[in-house]
Amino acid sequence: MAKLPILLYPDPRLHTKAIPVKQVDDKIRQLIKDMGETMYAAPGVGLAATQVDVHQRIIVIDQSPTRDQLHVFINPEIVESAGVADCEEGCLSVPGIYDKVTRAQNIRVRALDERGASFELAADGLLAVCIQHEMDHLEGKVFVDKLSRLKRQRILSKIKKRQREPA
Ligand code: NI
Repeated sequence: MAKLPILLYPDPRLHTKAIPVKQVDDKIRQLIKDMGETMYAAPGVGLAATQVDVHQRIIVIDQSPTRDQLHVFINPEIVESAGVADCEEGCLSVPGIYDKVTRAQNIRVRALDERGASFELAADGLLAVCIQHEMDHLEGKVFVDKLSRLKRQRILSKIKKRQREPA
């Protein structure tokens, strides 16, 4: 296993649209393991392949307090969604920045698992937020892209200021 470098906003590679996985093979399974390790080490609750500069449609999520329940979604699609909810979000690609984003409250997602088998999962609460957040990454969207222009400019200047500070 290997920890992968995470792209940081505003890296333009974060705006790449990911392509579907054609075949779930050992190479994909290795990538999923590496993504899991990267997410746990960060630490974070979700990671999209886009964030490690692999532009294939794969996301991993683990919100369990014990950090041992890895959800893997390959080629995820939202097949149903209902309701509206606001939630404060953060992102491993935008460290230290949190803001409220409006998303669907309940979703039903269809995806492939690590063996290439199709499954469906109904999600609400934090899991629904996280799935939608990670799926946005696959579309080349970072959560700050959903905020107002003013907020986004403030975030960008904060990031630039931080980059100028000596480590
Ligand atoms: Ni993110």
